[in-house]
Amino acid sequence: MNQPTQIAPSILSADFAQLGTQVSEAIAAGADLIHVDVMDGHFVPNITIGPLVVNALRPISQETGIPLDVHLMIENPELYLEDFVKAGADILSVHVEAAVHLHRAIQVIRDLGAKPGVAINPATPLVMLEAILPLVDQVIIMSVNPGFGGQSYIPASNERISRLQQMIARVGGTAVIEVDGGVKTHNAAAIAAAGADILVAGSAIFGGEKSIAQNVADFRDALAVDGKQ
Ligand code: DX5
Ligand code: ZN
Repeated sequence: MNQPTQIAPSILSADFAQLGTQVSEAIAAGADLIHVDVMDGHFVPNITIGPLVVNALRPISQETGIPLDVHLMIENPELYLEDFVKAGADILSVHVEAAVHLHRAIQVIRDLGAKPGVAINPATPLVMLEAILPLVDQVIIMSVNPGFGGQSYIPASNERISRLQQMIARVGGTAVIEVDGGVKTHNAAAIAAAGADILVAGSAIFGGEKSIAQNVADFRDALAVDGKQ
């Protein structure tokens, strides 16, 4: 818990014609993970990318040692776990709302050699995670309704992060808490103070006028005030 808060740029807001260059720039600037948002047009009302793009990013990830953190926002995630791990997912997260056999899905991801994670939507009670918490390496707290980048942070998320942190401690779990959606430099320190270990940021890193490197540096500055680094 006393580790510095990590930053996971989400490529959803990157320029896909320059994806490799932009991901390399984010990593050179100090990104800790690269967050990859997979959407199917069913679980969420948007379609994004599949294993091909994960596979394309794999060499950059391997050269730099920066993990690919793949967030599946898809129905029937069980059908695609192997494809994504084979493509290069180091951490693979499925939604508690989408995986009917969540326990099996988590087991399969681990057996495939990746770190399993579970993601939870803003309106889903945290108790839905209770049984799986000891078995996952990461929990993604959605702080927007998933589907699109550039949405506003839902303020009640901070309280959910703190409660989740207590739940993890209670079961003796080792899962880290990643917070995804609407994370900006102005709210980063408060989210970290609530208990987040990893902050996902898409539009705040790949959007706007400033360079990717400057945006990552701005996050580091914003987080320096939370006492963790
Ligand atoms: C939302 C995605 C997020 C998204 C975050 O559905 O899971 O990872 O890219 O984007 P921003 O940081 O722009 O809210
Ligand atoms: Zn995400």
